[in-house]
Order: sequence, then structure tokens, then C-alpha cells
Amino acid sequence: MKFEVELLPFLEETKYSKRNIDVTDFGAESKKIGNSRTIQSIYKTDVANRKWQRFMHQLIFDSQAVEILEMGTSLGFTTIYLAQATKGKVTTIEACPVKHNEAKNLFDKLELLNIEAINDTFSYYLAGSNHVKFDYIYLDGHHNGEAVLKYIERLKPMMAKNTLILVDYIRWSAGMFAAWNKLLADDYFSEKNDLFRMGILKKGNV
Ligand SMILES: C[S@@+](CC[C@H](N)C(=O)[O-])C[C@H]1O[C@@H](n2cnc3c(N)ncnc32)[C@H](O)[C@@H]1O
Repeated sequence: MKFEVELLPFLEETKYSKRNIDVTDFGAESKKIGNSRTIQSIYKTDVANRKWQRFMHQLIFDSQAVEILEMGTSLGFTTIYLAQATKGKVTTIEACPVKHNEAKNLFDKLELLNIEAINDTFSYYLAGSNHVKFDYIYLDGHHNGEAVLKYIERLKPMMAKNTLILVDYIRWSAGMFAAWNKLLADDYFSEKNDLFRMGILKKGNV
């Protein structure tokens, strides 16, 4: 894909960067790795791999989603795959201010105008926004089963007619898997797909 060629130098720099940044850990069940971390190590632990990035890109393209929400920006690489697949826009939420800044710098350097990067916690963001109806939601942060169920309840009024919700790491923990099983039993969603790493829900009729 053409944008991947433009992204390549930034990706190479990131993958091998020994630069340290001070991160704040917001995912209650994230493995504790320490506050000062290299960019390289954040890339390895946080960022979805290219296979999943391309899969999500294709899903957005095929479903013609225009309002996209990513919960968990990290360094912003996956955000770019989402943004390049739509004629609309991506809203991406990240609570850690340093990671948020890293991602914003990347979006600015690539002159990506259809990304709104917000530095906030998921709860605060969701408490304050009612007007948007998202077509596609990628939930990739705070991998705690109870929290995920709460976020999804709060997101329901913010879903469009045929919203797709991708819940990442459904097998991260017993709690995450229990939450996924509750979602499987939720009639609000007409389609549910277990892709082992992530689960996909679809609101509305087939
Ligand atoms: C797995 S990473 C996201 C990776 C990104 N989607 C990608 O594929 O490149 C999860 C991110 O969510 C953020 N996060 C975790 N819990 C959060 C919360 N409650 N509110 C906001 N951000 C949170 C973390 O700081 C972390 O950067």
C-alpha cells in the first residue's frame, strides 16, 4: 500500500529507537514494565502487527466506515492504518501524555488531517461525548473484562446503525474471556466473530 512506503522510514526509526520516554501506565492489567521505557520496547509491546493492521484497514475500507474510534493510541501506527482506509475521520484516545505526544508528532510529520488525537482516559472521554455515532470502534487498551463491558455499555448510544466493534485481546486473562462470553450472549449485537486474538461484534441486522 502506498502509505506504507511513506510510513516505512518512521517505522524503521521507531523499531530500533533506544530513546527513553516516561510513560504512565493506564491499563489496569497491563504487565508492569516500568515507567521509563525505550520507544523500541513500547513498539514491541503495544502496537498491533502488520497483519492485523492490514486486516483492520481492509475492514474499514469494505464497510465504508466514516466515523472511527480507536481506544488506545500508543505510538499511533495503527491509527494511520485506520485513517488511510476511510474518507471520514479517526478519533483516537490515549491517556498517557507522552505517548499521545509521540503519536501526534507522527501524524503531523505525515500531514494526516483526518485524525483527532485526544489525550484523555477512556472514561472521561466517554462521559463527555454523546453526539458522535461511530461506525467502527477498536477497543485496544485497559484489557480488563469488567472495564471492557462498562465501556461497551457506555458506547452503545454512540453506535451507528451497523457499527463494528473490535475487542482486542479477548484471551488476555480469564476476566477478558469471561467478558467476551457475556458479549456473545448480548442480543444487542447481531453478529459475533471470534478471531482468537480479537472478537468482532456487529450491531444491527445482517
Ligand atoms: C495496546 S496499546 C494501543 C496500541 C495501538 N492501538 C496500536 O495498535 O498501535 C494500549 C494503549 O491504551 C492506553 N490506555 C490503557 N488504558 C487506558 C485508559 N483507561 N484510558 C486511556 N488510555 C488507556 C495505554 O496507555 C496504551 O498506550
